[in-house]
Amino acid sequence: MTGGARSAAAAVLALTAAASVPAGAQGEDFAARFAACLACHGENGRSTTALVPSLGGQPAFFAMTQLFLLRDGRRGEPVMIEQARSMTNDDLRAFSAAIAGLPPPEPPAQAPDADRFERGRALATRHRCGVCHNPDFSGREQMPRLANQREDYLLKSMREFASGRRIGYGAAMTQELAGLADEALADLAHFLAHFPDRRRIPQ
Ligand code: HEC
Ligand code: HEC
Repeated sequence: MTGGARSAAAAVLALTAAASVPAGAQGEDFAARFAACLACHGENGRSTTALVPSLGGQPAFFAMTQLFLLRDGRRGEPVMIEQARSMTNDDLRAFSAAIAGLPPPEPPAQAPDADRFERGRALATRHRCGVCHNPDFSGREQMPRLANQREDYLLKSMREFASGRRIGYGAAMTQELAGLADEALADLAHFLAHFPDRRRIPQ
């Protein structure tokens, strides 16, 4: 871990040490601010906009680490950095808690391409993505939910980790994707966006 990453980790840990949502943060004012987030991130946190991630079902700690990096301008698109720039530490806690309370996104209406889904599944097994992201890709702690995230956003974020453009809270993702071809990233994104495949796995 670099010195910068270590101090970021320490700062986020200090934030979560007092992880209760501050009194008053969930009032009307906060509800209106959160509604403005969902104008981009979609109703209930399920995004219908290209390259805007769904937030539903993300672990609170993951949301907090990313808002922290975004606030500092250390990752992300200018449009989102602008949103996070003036957040206080209480805001970071309140938005993270609100995000974790949103329902996980529904799978896409269109069935996956069977070949790409299988290739993606084989890659995810071989590279043990589920060890960190959970076997059902539901995410935990600082590791995001991947199941039913938008395919275009999954691919964008993996390309950015692979190229070193996206700085993680830790170095895990850049290491995990080292040596994977772009086509493999695309198959992984297709698999994760459609996981589980409802045609075969009864719910
Ligand atoms: C104008 C549209 C817009 C608004 C409004 C907006 N966001 Fe975002 N947000 C984005 C985009 C685009 C990204 C992806 C940035 C990237 O590609 O790195 C993002 C990324 C995020 C992420 C990282 C998610 C992940 O899976 O990596 C979080 C958390 C987040 N936004 C929370 C919020 C919160 C909380 C608010 C309200 C205070 C908000 N956003 C308002 C567009 C928006
Ligand atoms: C050693 C643990 C670990 C392993 C193994 C791992 N990841 Fe991750 N992944 C993370 C962490 C931690 C993050 C959060 C990024 C950060 O550090 O800021 C992440 C983030 C991501 C994101 C960004 C999602 C978002 O909403 O921003 C994607 C996509 C992803 N991982 C896909 C994968 C895939 C595909 C694999 C297997 C090839 C994999 N990961 C293996 C730990 C891991």
